[in-house]
Order: sequence, then structure tokens, then C-alpha cells
Amino acid sequence: MNPPSSQNSSSTPPARPGTEPGDRRLVEVSATAHAKVNLHLGCGDVRDDGFHELVTVFQSLSLPTTVTLTEVPDGDASGHVAELTVSGDSAAHVPVDDSNLAWRAVIAAVEKAESRVPRVAAIHIDKAIPVAGGMAGGSADAAAALVAAREFFELPLTDDELVELAADLGSDVPFCLLGGTALGTGRGENLAPILVRGEYHWALALAKGGLSTPDVFRTIDRLREERDVPRAAAPDELMKALASGSPDELAAHLANDLQPAAISLKPELRTTLRAGLDGGALAGIVSGSGPTTAFLCRDREHALDVAAHLATSGTCAATLTASGPAPGARLT
Ligand code: C5P
Repeated sequence: MNPPSSQNSSSTPPARPGTEPGDRRLVEVSATAHAKVNLHLGCGDVRDDGFHELVTVFQSLSLPTTVTLTEVPDGDASGHVAELTVSGDSAAHVPVDDSNLAWRAVIAAVEKAESRVPRVAAIHIDKAIPVAGGMAGGSADAAAALVAAREFFELPLTDDELVELAADLGSDVPFCLLGGTALGTGRGENLAPILVRGEYHWALALAKGGLSTPDVFRTIDRLREERDVPRAAAPDELMKALASGSPDELAAHLANDLQPAAISLKPELRTTLRAGLDGGALAGIVSGSGPTTAFLCRDREHALDVAAHLATSGTCAATLTASGPAPGARLT
């Protein structure tokens, strides 16, 4: 896969404020990554390692998360991270300890580089991505944290090593590093960029509460044991639609094998999907493992109209609009 493009590959990071001899300003580094939607999510059977074999088409959406690492003078250098704070609408639902994926990403990057790091970071995440919504919110934080950590601690990590770290942190983290539109296989971590013409506009409906990704995967296994649940065909037609640039064509080929599982755990999603279509969306789909629902629209104005309709329908907790593809994780 292509590495995050704004990064130099392996050796010396570019000079930045606060690193000149005698310059005592605190070092601060920020990186931004984006949410994703799965245009196609074909879920195979569960593997021996507990993951499911996927064939998926990711697209990054213009909902950013920005991770900022700021130097903590006199911090305990052996800990690398002193604290984590979060801002944004869903800040209250984000863990602020070392269970946070961004915190884990920073520690993993430092440990992988085996560097002596004299600097200690405070992490701040400014997040516009819904939490536990099937939009890779935590994975985007981790991707941005990896890019920021390499720069902040001046770690000699190659782009490929960053991708390896990303895959260890979670199945969606490599895509959040890469961004754009990509075919994901394996558990979603093996990526190939896809040629896309044009820009796609989405209205997003946020549900009350989240869904646990493992629960959704377990539920699709159970539903498949109980009855014959149709499986998505290969995404060939979807890829052609992406090359055509036509949202109408793309709308005809959106698919998500996890949708029946998400609806079985949150039956109200069926009503939300219907409301989006009643509001004129070209197509509606559960995003990833849900419960956010994503509605493909003709253009930005249309997405605003559909979001307004969803907001007044009483079938969701909040609405957003976004466009894709958006870039991968990069320094900001
Ligand atoms: O990789 P990640 O940590 O995001 O996965 C969270 C959980 O989602 C896994 O522990 C697993 O239960 C489920 N999962 C899966 N198959 C995948 C990706 C995720 O079963 N391909």
C-alpha cells in the first residue's frame, strides 16, 4: 500500500520549531486522520484467530480527528505519555487512560523504534467522528497518533513499519493511515487503492448509543447459523461505479453483510434507513458495524436536505454531512 504521503520515509524528520539548540519553546506536533464508511463490506466466515475474512471497500470521509502531542517538561520519560484529553461532541465517551487507542499507538511507536526518548507527551484529541458508530473513530485517532508520534519523538520508523504498527492496533487503522478509497482484504488490513472519479456526498444519521464491533460480528455468525442470510457478491460493479463518478450508479451497488446483524441488535435502524430514503437519499446503508447509517446523495445540497429530513424524522439522535474521499493521516 502507499504510505502516508506527507511523511519522509525513514531517517531524519524535517526541522521544526522548538528543536534548534537553545530554542526552549515547547515542542508541539499535530496530525489529522479521517472517518471511514464501508461502501462494500463482504463478511466471510470466522477464522481460527477469531477475526472474519473480509472483502471491503473503504472510503475516507471529511470528518476529521486531530491528535496533538505537546511536550510535558519534567515528565517521566519512561512513561512517554503523561496524560490524554479529548474535545469534540463525543468527548465524554472517549477513554482518557492508557486503554485509549491513540495512547496505545504512541507507546507502540516508541517501543517499536527502540529509541531513547527524552521527551514526554501530553496527547490531545479533537474529534469530529462519532464514537462506537462504525466510522473508525478510534482507528483514525490511532492513525493520527502514529504519524504525530514519529515526528514528535523523532522516531526512525519507515512508512512500512508504521503500517505494521497500525495493523497490530486494529483492522481499520491501516486504512485510516492510507485514506482515499481502497479495497481491504484479510481482516481489512491488506489494502489496495482504488481509482475513483469525483466526490461523493453523504448524510449521516447517528443512533442513540453505540454498538460493540465484536457483538455485531458474533451476531452475523449466529444469524447465519439460524437462517440463510444473503451474502454480498464481489464488489466488481461497485468498482466500475466508482470509476464512472456517478453517485446514482454507486447507490445501486452499496452493500454491507453486517447490516442484518446491526439491525438485529438495534431494530430502530430499520426506521432510520427508511426515513433517509423517504427524505430522497439515493441509497442508505449501515456504516461498517454500525449503528451510524450513511445515505448517499447527489451533491452537497442534497446531503443537507436529506440530513434535515432525518433530523426532523425523530428516528436518530443527530445528523451530519460529509464528503469522500478524504486524505489519509498526515501532519497538520
Ligand atoms: O481489529 P479490531 O480491533 O478493530 O477488531 C475488533 C473486533 O471486531 C475483533 O476483536 C473481532 O471481534 C471483530 N472483527 C472481526 N473480523 C474482522 C475485524 C474485526 O471479527 N475482520
